[in-house]
Amino acid sequence: MPKNKILITGSAGFIGFHLSKYFLDKKFEVVGIDNLNNYYDKKLKLKRNSILRKHKKYKFYRTDIKNKKKIFEIFKNNKFKLVINLAAQAGVQYSIKNPYVYAETNIFGFINILEACKKYHVKKILYASSSSIYGSNKNYPFKENHKTDNPISLYAATKKSNELIANVYSHIFNIKLIGLRFFTVYGPWGRPDMSLFIFTKNILKNKKIIVYNNGEMYRDFTYIDDVVDVVYKLSLSKKITKNNYIFNISGSRSIKLNYYIKLIEHFTNKKAKKIIRKKLKSDVKKTISSTSHLKKVIYKKQYTKIENGIQNFVKWFKKFYKIK
Ligand SMILES: NC(=O)c1ccc[n+]([C@@H]2O[C@H](COP(=O)([O-])OP(=O)(O)OC[C@H]3O[C@@H](n4cnc5c(N)ncnc54)[C@H](O)[C@@H]3O)[C@@H](O)[C@H]2O)c1
Repeated sequence: MPKNKILITGSAGFIGFHLSKYFLDKKFEVVGIDNLNNYYDKKLKLKRNSILRKHKKYKFYRTDIKNKKKIFEIFKNNKFKLVINLAAQAGVQYSIKNPYVYAETNIFGFINILEACKKYHVKKILYASSSSIYGSNKNYPFKENHKTDNPISLYAATKKSNELIANVYSHIFNIKLIGLRFFTVYGPWGRPDMSLFIFTKNILKNKKIIVYNNGEMYRDFTYIDDVVDVVYKLSLSKKITKNNYIFNISGSRSIKLNYYIKLIEHFTNKKAKKIIRKKLKSDVKKTISSTSHLKKVIYKKQYTKIENGIQNFVKWFKKFYKIK
């Protein structure tokens, strides 16, 4: 069995692409699965995937994690040392319009991956959870042991379900399951449905941007390179000895939306035209996380500053979309 063959689902997605690239650069064999759906511009997914496909040690299956037969076949033909499940229907607002796809991919699809791991003896799985499961918790900073029984979107509810399901599999089947509560991940190749992408695009085109709650919103942003570094370290950490873990993955600094817009204005050298709207019911006002739990398991000296991260994003955006 190849000692370092891993599976990354959602490999053509934003985080999956960066993570696959990182593991490939570290000489791992990476099998990627993605259904390349059109939730957002498919061209971006195809472009990310075409970069990964240049690596000899990358093997790609265009398939759906809901397809049990195909998933089991892939597991049968590839002996995985580690599985990282990132494939999901992401997005908070879309879950109001389109609830079923969340249940199908995030819950049913996740169970398919777990069942395949069980059958083909994969002993370690990392999976994406989300900061959204803290709901309207106002006990700052968010800690992993805080109550997360009050999600305020269906997306968050499916991620909370993933953590509960993971608990069952780790308990009964002796599989190590590590839940990653990502906090607003951003950076080059980022998601077109997220605010950094939308704001940058509209500001560059002199179009209006919608700002909720008068800009009195706060997010703990996490730069993609930091996410990749943390997930890589976690997947190799010898300090993971128990079967069930959950970690906040964040930059640990809460940034006010108005400041973040100012940074985009600065790096695009343009002024934003704002439309102010009241806060959406399903949106949380503030996220800020504690990473003290993570620090017990991995060492990471520095996280990327928001100022540098946004500069890198704007640079990438202008280059990718050929904007002068
Ligand atoms: N980006 C963030 O800020 C953030 C925050 C919290 C949690 N997360 C979670 O991290 C994971 C990765 O997020 P991302 O930002 O890279 O999102 P993304 O949408 O860019 O990536 C997800 C990928 O999964 C694929 N996918 C969706 N449904 C699938 C299915 N049924 N079968 C196979 N592939 C499927 C999509 O085509 C996409 O390429 C997701 O689970 C998401 O919920 C992300």
